[in-house]
Amino acid sequence: MIASLFPEDVIVVRATPEMEREPLHPAERAWAERLGENRRREFALGRACARRALARLGIEGFALLSGENRAPRWPPGVVGTLTHCRGFCAAAVARCGALVGLGLDAEPARPLSAPLVERITAEPERARLGALPAAPAVGWGTVLFTAKESLYKCYFPITGAFLGFRDAEIDLDPEAARFTARLCRDEKPSARGARTFHGRYHIDEALVISAVALTAAECSEPPAT
Ligand SMILES: CC(C)(COP(=O)(O)OP(=O)(O)OC[C@H]1O[C@@H](n2cnc3c(N)ncnc32)[C@H](O)[C@@H]1OP(=O)(O)O)[C@@H](O)C(=O)NCCC(=O)NCCS
Repeated sequence: MIASLFPEDVIVVRATPEMEREPLHPAERAWAERLGENRRREFALGRACARRALARLGIEGFALLSGENRAPRWPPGVVGTLTHCRGFCAAAVARCGALVGLGLDAEPARPLSAPLVERITAEPERARLGALPAAPAVGWGTVLFTAKESLYKCYFPITGAFLGFRDAEIDLDPEAARFTARLCRDEKPSARGARTFHGRYHIDEALVISAVALTAAECSEPPAT
């Protein structure tokens, strides 16, 4: 199911319980020593997913360390993204070229409090949410939250720029379970010319999952050399 949130060429690996015992690459293990126990466990599970996904691209033995602002440092020529939350962990990767960026985010299917929804949305965005047909039990706030985090995970590795929750606005299309995200502050750099991003979401009893993929066809600028 998660693979269907991305374009066809994206490889997605979801964690299984036996992957919890998989050892880290020695360089990843050394890096993870600075983390607390719970973080180390989720870090390791994310790396196990990433390792399997990279192997499907023919890349073996790569140490996936974290760079600036915690963004994973994927091998040259690869874009990827990771998410973990209770009971769920997954990685998505693809060859650079047709794909420029990927973002995946999962959150427990719990409604957000009204103050939190207010913090992560702008007034016009909330007005559009209010006009949507019947909200899912989890509420639109959680969907918007994951959509924005998946946008950030796609955007940051391309631009190196932080995005606050009100730096982008989301339009949801509940019939298609898709969304459009638009950068709404001029000072935020475009991602290779793109200021609009497209994503898909999935809601089940346990989780809300969102995915963004930026394709070269959506970018007006060539890759940096
Ligand atoms: C980075 C962030 C999105 C992570 O989300 P989360 O729900 O806390 O955690 P998840 O498990 O889903 O994702 C964590 C993974 O995201 C990835 N990640 C973290 N920072 C990242 C970044 N700057 N760029 C790309 N990926 C990043 C990492 O792979 C990380 O796992 P790892 O540390 O084990 O490698 C969140 O902590 C954050 O900083 N949000 C504020 C920025 C934002 O979302 N703005 C909205 C813009 S509209």
